Amino acid sequence: MTKRLGQRWAGVLAGGAMLVGAIGASAGAAQPARSVNDGVYTAAQAERGAKVFEKTCTACHDTARFTGAEFTSAWTGLPLKNLFSAVQTMPEDNPGSLPPQEYADIIAFVLQLNEYPPGDSELEGTAEAMAVTMDARKP
Ligand code: HEC
Repeated sequence: MTKRLGQRWAGVLAGGAMLVGAIGASAGAAQPARSVNDGVYTAAQAERGAKVFEKTCTACHDTARFTGAEFTSAWTGLPLKNLFSAVQTMPEDNPGSLPPQEYADIIAFVLQLNEYPPGDSELEGTAEAMAVTMDARKP
């Protein structure tokens, strides 16, 4: 079930990713998309996210569900927006009940769990900020 859900999201949202790419190119955006390897969240934000996760998610999920190759490979190459959308369908018993920034904080926590580097500015809970690409972690 886990796999199926992941693939469903990946499929639905890959189309969106291509569209964003096309718009970026036609607007002459010279900058390559930032990636989660570029320090897109802060350590303090991840700490906040850990608290929200603890309070809102641990009833149903262990952090192990969101780490490791199986988890990251499902999202690799896609914009972070895809994971952001998936997280916003949670908690399953009350979807979308958190403010966007708290969902972004949870994502910061998940990035930290997967050892992506923190940076100087927080990851905002906006579609624009979530255009960052989910890449494999740089060794
Ligand atoms: C009431 C139980 C429950 C709570 C609380 C809950 N979840 Fe889930 N979540 C599920 C179930 C069931 C699934 C589907 C099975 C799976 O993928 O593990 C799921 C799936 C997911 C997925 C995978 C989606 C995909 O498409 O692969 C993510 C990410 C996720 N949850 C994040 C969260 C986060 C973050 C929270 C806290 C804000 C949360 N969940 C709270 C039950 C819950």
